[in-house]
Amino acid sequence: MKFNIAVIEGDGIGPEVTRAAVAVLERVGERYGHHFEFNYVLAGGRAIDETGVPLPASTLEVCQNSDAVLLGAVGGPKWDQLPGHLRPEKGLLQIRQGLGLFGNIRPAKVFKALKEASPLKPEIMGDSLDIVVIRELTGGLYFGKRGRDEAGAYDTMRYSEAEVRRIARLAFEVAKKRGGHLTNVDKMNVLESSRLWREVVLEVAGEYPEVTLNHQLVDNAAMQLVRDPHQFDTIVTANLFGDILSDEASMLTGSIGMLPSASLGEGRLGLYEPIHGSAPDIAGEHKANPLGTILSTALMLRYSFDLEEEALAVEGAVEKALDDGYRTPDLKGLGRTVTTEEMTDAVLERLV
Ligand code: IPM
Ligand code: MG
Repeated sequence: MKFNIAVIEGDGIGPEVTRAAVAVLERVGERYGHHFEFNYVLAGGRAIDETGVPLPASTLEVCQNSDAVLLGAVGGPKWDQLPGHLRPEKGLLQIRQGLGLFGNIRPAKVFKALKEASPLKPEIMGDSLDIVVIRELTGGLYFGKRGRDEAGAYDTMRYSEAEVRRIARLAFEVAKKRGGHLTNVDKMNVLESSRLWREVVLEVAGEYPEVTLNHQLVDNAAMQLVRDPHQFDTIVTANLFGDILSDEASMLTGSIGMLPSASLGEGRLGLYEPIHGSAPDIAGEHKANPLGTILSTALMLRYSFDLEEEALAVEGAVEKALDDGYRTPDLKGLGRTVTTEEMTDAVLERLV
């Protein structure tokens, strides 16, 4: 089969990790007889430097006409002085919004070989950990009205029932296919938008009797994640809460460099990116962990292309490379420290 993939390399380590992911997809194409066509487009800091805006209209158009979008990471101190609407991150937010990608799936899974890389004590970690954070991605504080006035500055957290309903449905669907347990995280003791959020989640729960549901306030959830992460299976939460909790959940796995993400809308088109940032401090030093981006291609194969066997092959190859002791510098513990390229080659060699 033939698939068009828009590629946004982005800033900092973005190009290095994207290169690794493209190599993996090309290998999958050779092995399984698919043709992946890559169209490179600009967004983020590089787009600002070359076109003056973080998301040129042509980029959004190419993304809209693709089967999937692969993104490295955007941003860096170079663009820190720019006003909010011209920052690199704004380009990413505009893509998410422009493509209607309201549902962000962030799996935090601990690979056996990396058990000792987790900062949690072994007795808390147990043998494995497998949590998915479902983060609402096109509403809430990220997209509410914001500004400054005489009194100060403000951002608005606003959710419509329809916005909550669709993310809740996605979360219940994911939970149903996994461990059958969903934890809704909000701040309903303080926020009105959270009270609406919880009402709608409870209403949607009626459609999923097979999924057990509990609720936690976001501050408590942040604590519970490190106290007893095994109580979680699938977590659903609002945009900013999900941003924070997914970083926290990622660290349970030993390194934020390991975590992939999928951003989905109503159709098949999705955006796939590692959850880490552009890490300008190590850009170009061959130290970046490419596995978060490589694992994002597995999610692309699974969710946008419906190629489960190929997705499992990529995940299996990553697991084998880790089992065989390959470690980028962010992965502490036993093993041999390797460069971005060596790690990528190790995955490619194991991709059968
Ligand atoms: C993420 C990132 C982005 C976000 C930034 C870069 C805008 O932190 O994808 O988690 O906050 O959504
Ligand atoms: Mg984040």
